Order: sequence, then C-alpha cells, then structure tokens
Amino acid sequence: MIETRNLTKEFNGLVAVDHISFSVKRGEIFGLLGPNGAGKTTTIRMLATLTRPTAGTATVGDYDIVKDDNEVRKLIGLVSEKIIMYDRLTAKENLWFFGRLYNIQKEVLNTRIDELLELVQLGKWKDVQVGTFSSGMRQRMNVIRALLNMPEVLLLDEPTLGLDPQSTVEVREFIKKINRENKMTIILTTHMMIEADLLCDRIGIIDHGKIAALDTSPHLKRRVSGADTTIFEFEIANLTTNMVSSIQSLECVGSASRDNATRIRVHAHGNNAFDIIIDTIRAEKGKINSVKNLEPTLEDVFLHITGHDVRDNADQKIPMKGHRRFMPRRRVR
Ligand SMILES: Nc1ncnc2c1ncn2[C@@H]1O[C@H](COP(=O)(O)OP(=O)(O)O)[C@@H](O)[C@H]1O
Ligand SMILES: [Mg+2]
Repeated sequence: MIETRNLTKEFNGLVAVDHISFSVKRGEIFGLLGPNGAGKTTTIRMLATLTRPTAGTATVGDYDIVKDDNEVRKLIGLVSEKIIMYDRLTAKENLWFFGRLYNIQKEVLNTRIDELLELVQLGKWKDVQVGTFSSGMRQRMNVIRALLNMPEVLLLDEPTLGLDPQSTVEVREFIKKINRENKMTIILTTHMMIEADLLCDRIGIIDHGKIAALDTSPHLKRRVSGADTTIFEFEIANLTTNMVSSIQSLECVGSASRDNATRIRVHAHGNNAFDIIIDTIRAEKGKINSVKNLEPTLEDVFLHITGHDVRDNADQKIPMKGHRRFMPRRRVR
C-alpha cells in the first residue's frame, strides 16, 4: 500500500530524513518509533504530500507522492500532532466544516458524521461545543476528522502525545478498532515504546533520520536476548556469594548478576534452565521469595541497536526499567 525508496529530506544541509526505505502492507499498522527529532513528522508530511522529498521516492497505493499528489491525497487521512478544531463550534459543526472542505456531498456527509461520532462514542455530544471536551474527546474528534473522506490509508503522527492515561487508552483502542473493522492501513509515529508494542504489526526504529531496524516487536526483542535466552530475576531472602557463584557456574547460565542484597538476575538458556537453577538454590538452602521472568522490552531493543536511550532527547521523562542495564550490548547480527 505504501512504499518508500531512499526517501530523503534536507533542510538547509540538515538531513532530517536520510534515505528511508520501507513498505507497508494493506491493512497493516506500521509504526515509526524514535525519539524527538528523529524525522518521524517529516516522513509523515512527505507521505501526506505536504512537503516534497529532496531525494528518493514514495508511493501510496501505487501513486507517486510528487507526480500524483492529488491522487495520493484522495487515499489518505492525516492526523497531525496539532489538533485543529474550533472550540466554539459543536462537534458536528466542526466535522461539517472540514467535510465540506473535502467537498463531500451534503447527504453523505451528514450520515457519515453521525456514524463517525457514534464510532468514537461521541454521539450524544454532537451538539456540544468542542471547547468543553476533554483532551481525549478532542483527540478522538481529531482522528475522526481524518476519517471523513473514508481514506484507505491513515497517517497518525504521535496520536496520543500529551493525552492523560485514560484518553491514551481510549485513542489506542479506537486505532485498533478502525484497523480491524475497516481494514484500514495505518502508519503511526510515536516515541513511546509501549505504544508501538501495543499497536503495531511491524515497527521501524528511526534514529537520526535513518531506519535502524525494522521488524515485528517479538523479532526485534529476540535480537537482544537471542532466540533461546530467558531472563529470570530471583528474590532470595538469604542470598550468599556462594549461591551466586554456583548459579554463575551452571552450564545453562549465560550471565548472573547480583542486583542487591537479595536479588539476582540470570540470563539462562535451554528448556530445563529454570529447574536446574531452582535446584541449585535449594541445594544451598536458599529461601526463594519470588521469581520473575523478564522479557526484553522495546526499550532494550532501542538501546541495543542505537546505543542510546530513546528518551535521551525526548520531552517525556519516564523512570527507566531497572533491568535495562543488564542487557548484553552485543552487536546486531
Ligand atoms: N521546516 C523545518 N525546517 C528546518 N528543520 C526542520 C523542519 N522540520 C523539521 N526540521 C528538523 O528535522 C529534524 C527532524 O524533525 P521531525 O521530522 O519533526 O522529527 P520528529 O517528528 O521525529 O520529532 C529535526 O532536527 C528538526 O529540527
Ligand atoms: Mg514529530
């Protein structure tokens, strides 16, 4: 449905998007995940025909984004980072205004507005001024505005940026729903690992204008841990140095590191690893309080691939997961 080949955008010598190539299948949710300034918005704006590439090409539904920009525009709906909505107009009036801009026939538009408002559970708010809406309601309005022309492709630039947790959940649910029910092809950008993980069929990790890795979330995570590695975290009330070295010396253990007085993290491989480690701890009279099986997160993947944290230059600071630093810093195979 979408294909980019060496898509590039320079702003006075600054390469914002640097020879990006990827393709998005029909009906897929494709994520561009990367920190602020990575080039996500610029990529979306090029696909939306709002800005021209300096080099490279892209097609949407086989139409060239430069040569056939009018055709491309008919296929896409864009939800940009900024919400454009008239506070003093009601929900319905706002949608009517934008729908007429798209030149949608009045009868068709009337029914469509009602359907879309129902779709995002805003039906009973249709005659209420948008100025009184919560941020989640406004963002849902912003998304359905992009759906007025029934696009085949939806471009979502940071769809949950700045939303409170409740609204974030609502908007994410809605994105999944329109993808499932309308088979809509979606590209979404985000700097939130969890969002990419929850929503996207495949994820392109973008950093400094380049795609650093592109795959499904499970495959990306496997690059970090290795297909066969499991990460366990044991809480042992009476953890001793001896216990730590016994675990470390096990054949099924790749690495074991003591986190604090009672906690040990173990990278293990093989099917029986768990049993073997438990037996070893018991043999030394260790009292196990809890065991966790830790999956590598996309955060680990980003760090592993780009060598820096995704939030290094992002505006949203969230405390890091404690286990991050235990991940091996191997090169990507
Ligand atoms: N119109 C512009 N003029 C000059 N530089 C720009 C312009 N738009 C974006 N940039 C720069 O391009 C880079 C990528 O920006 P952007 O695509 O907005 O990244 P993201 O959406 O991933 O945060 C940044 O360094 C940004 O400052
Ligand atoms: Mg952006």
